[in-house]
Amino acid sequence: GAPVEVDLGRVKPGTLLTVEWCGKPVWIVHRTDRMPDLLGRHGNQLVDPQSKEAQQPEYAKNATRSIRSPYLVVIGICTHLGCIPIYRPEMAPADLGPDWPGGFYCPCHGSKFDLAGRVFKNVPAPRNLEVPPYTYVSDTRLLIG
Ligand code: FES
Repeated sequence: GAPVEVDLGRVKPGTLLTVEWCGKPVWIVHRTDRMPDLLGRHGNQLVDPQSKEAQQPEYAKNATRSIRSPYLVVIGICTHLGCIPIYRPEMAPADLGPDWPGGFYCPCHGSKFDLAGRVFKNVPAPRNLEVPPYTYVSDTRLLIG
């Protein structure tokens, strides 16, 4: 499919923007300073903290799974059976447990992902969310695809 250009000015800090690419929802999350800081503290709760089994470009193989840490770009499709997870960035909502660091929750069968799209243990989803190919065409514009 055709690449999709995104103006990052549309993604306010802490929020998620969904765009469509190749018929799939792609999320751009503007992580705040506080959020990337949370990524390293729950590695032992994750299935694949280093994303070794994940589908992602080489340039996303780092702790934040991104080219620039404030912006997470992932395909918003659960790796279990393809539902669309819900953005739940806030800390410790009661229904997601006391250790919840914020991320994405799949309502279909309860899979949980962190703010880098990495899947937690003991849920049905087998893999981290997929990172699509993307580049920065300027400081404020992304090209997905
Ligand atoms: Fe997401 Fe099953 S489709 S948990």
